[in-house]
Amino acid sequence: QKIAVIYGGRSAEREVSLESGARVVQALKNKGYQVEAVDLYHEGPDQDVIKQLQAVAFDFAFIALHGGEGEDGRLQALLDLMDKPYTGSQPLASGFAMDKALTKRYWQGIGIPTPKYLCFSHKPDVAQINKEMTYPLIIKPSREGSTIGISKVDGPEGLAEALQDAQRYDSDILVEEFVTGPEFTIAVIGDRAWAPIGLKPSEEHVLYDYNAKYVANDTQYLLPCGLPFEREEELKDLALKAYQSLNCEDWGRVDVMMTDSGDFMVLEVNTSPGMTSHSLVPMAAAHEGVDYDELVEMIAQLGWR
Ligand code: DAL
Ligand code: MG
Repeated sequence: QKIAVIYGGRSAEREVSLESGARVVQALKNKGYQVEAVDLYHEGPDQDVIKQLQAVAFDFAFIALHGGEGEDGRLQALLDLMDKPYTGSQPLASGFAMDKALTKRYWQGIGIPTPKYLCFSHKPDVAQINKEMTYPLIIKPSREGSTIGISKVDGPEGLAEALQDAQRYDSDILVEEFVTGPEFTIAVIGDRAWAPIGLKPSEEHVLYDYNAKYVANDTQYLLPCGLPFEREEELKDLALKAYQSLNCEDWGRVDVMMTDSGDFMVLEVNTSPGMTSHSLVPMAAAHEGVDYDELVEMIAQLGWR
């Protein structure tokens, strides 16, 4: 029985995935599994993913890709067609969760609180943004991860540049009203939400952004997150509800902001969360007494049914 750890990929999150994948491979080996590391698009965009996967005799796939076709359901659909079980959500849930605008529209309909937003395909309507939205705003590509292409804009003068920046990564742009925070993230494993982690970026980082996530070492992680017990339970329930509303499976991570008045607002669900040494799901696991290798085995067992 062989597990293929699929990682790398050609999304903007490739570097993060290389790190996640390497650690997952090691963890599965430590647990005694036979593992094949499959780095997609290792030698550039000409690679044929289908041939690459067919060349590996594997029974099960651990998906350690972030963003793009590795997280948005396309790879998941391919594995379904190959009759190979894999970790994480199925194609439809993956694609839904990857699309933040679609997710927010849906959540509004079913009463899951999420920051006020506008979404534009192709050309953003600056007049509409300035008329309907209250600064500061967060501008982000709708289908991207690791806060890539995201900016905070304090007034109309910074809007054009932020929109351009986001458009480098996606044709769909999300304009969201800024919520001061703090930010929390909640790992969901199986059908249980784990203890929320509070995120406190240092003063220089306005956001828990790419740099704060993977480069700088100055973000404070609060675990326990500092909320009173009932509020923490409320947050876990909301995270689980948001995750389950999209039909996500096996594992994921839900990002939530708290407003000044103490309301929770869900930002998104990540269906293939980071598994690097800086990453948050392993941190939440450690708090539960589950070490990295055990966590990886747990996720694999959830997928391998
Ligand atoms: N998209 C990154 C990898 C995360 O959610 O952890
Ligand atoms: Mg994300």
